[in-house]
Amino acid sequence: MENFRQTVTEINLDHLLNNWSVVTRLAGKDRFVCPMVKANAYGHGAFQVATCLERESAKYFGVCLIEEGLSLREAGLKSELLVFGGFDKQGAEKILEYQMTPVISSWEQLKFIESLADSAVKIHIKFETGMNRLGFAPGEAEKISEYLKKSKKLKLKAILTHLACGDDAASDAGMSSMQLRTLAELKNYFKSFDVFAHALNSGGILSLSEASETSVLKKEKWGFRPGLMLYGYQPAGTKNADLKPVMSFKSTIQTQRAVKTGASVSYGATWKAQRDSQIAVIPAGYADGVKRQLSNSGSVTVGGQRAPIIGVICMDFFMVDLTDVISKTGRENWQNEEVLLFGEDASGGFVSADEWAKKTNSISWEILTSISERVPRRFHGNAFGNIKD
Ligand SMILES: Cc1ncc(COP(=O)(O)O)c(C=O)c1O
Repeated sequence: MENFRQTVTEINLDHLLNNWSVVTRLAGKDRFVCPMVKANAYGHGAFQVATCLERESAKYFGVCLIEEGLSLREAGLKSELLVFGGFDKQGAEKILEYQMTPVISSWEQLKFIESLADSAVKIHIKFETGMNRLGFAPGEAEKISEYLKKSKKLKLKAILTHLACGDDAASDAGMSSMQLRTLAELKNYFKSFDVFAHALNSGGILSLSEASETSVLKKEKWGFRPGLMLYGYQPAGTKNADLKPVMSFKSTIQTQRAVKTGASVSYGATWKAQRDSQIAVIPAGYADGVKRQLSNSGSVTVGGQRAPIIGVICMDFFMVDLTDVISKTGRENWQNEEVLLFGEDASGGFVSADEWAKKTNSISWEILTSISERVPRRFHGNAFGNIKD
């Protein structure tokens, strides 16, 4: 698509590789590692992220939707693609047609795949151990194992679960340890299949460095499914892991205007100038992922200085007060100047997406995945190489 707008996300693939090296260092040898590239790689561009990691050492990728897997296949990604989000009969057909690996959470799904496959198909079986979202009840394990022993087509490769409180995984008394103990017991039912087990999201992975050698977290080489940490952010409470944020969200000042004392700005006239002010109009709004809760509370960085967001965020625009930036810098005209919403600016200044998350009562996962499709992704870094934009 042609691009005329100045509001963009810059995706630094060198930072992605830095984060990947943190993951692989923690993984050590012979561990299943499946980068999660669902939701357009948390908003970062699934094909480019997966291609970049595939060129390193990644062999598997995780998507939620069949559609996400299809578009990666159609773009040319060759690696094994695990579909985590579930499927019906039509979905099962597509999974098989596009050689994706189903993560199976119910008897219905198991039977769809078995009835439609015309040759051997790799499967992963998900168990519900505490999240109460997807997966077979642990009590079904024996029956599933017996069923799979008789199946000519279904080839069980792994069992898995999903941690509800991954960041507590270093504690033996935590919920994650309880879930992992259940998964370890379930594995016993599948000994004859030579399966591995995967469970660790970013919280679980980042807990490894704090866990004791005897903990259930360290007892097995639990497979990794990193999402957030790949993109440079950490779940609250995890130990600093030298990750580098991959996404920077930027715009430019479309218009600078003077407003007189008493004049209001934006819908509902919620902000009124207490002094003669200079304001900037930024061409980004809630339709781009600038959360409306930042109205009259967030800020942006202009020329290395913070400028407060004033008035409510509109669908396509928001406004900031430049008056203090002008008096601090002595520079009057900021028209067309770059504005950093979050991420890194040209001079190395940094604003964390976590700051937006705190201000909007959200989490960094939501902030990153909320940057909408109409914001172009620009890929940077040496790792960009010839990955197509
Ligand atoms: C099944 C599954 N595994 C792994 C992840 C990755 O989690 P995180 O982004 O916390 O690393 C997710 C994300 O929600 C998930 O749904």
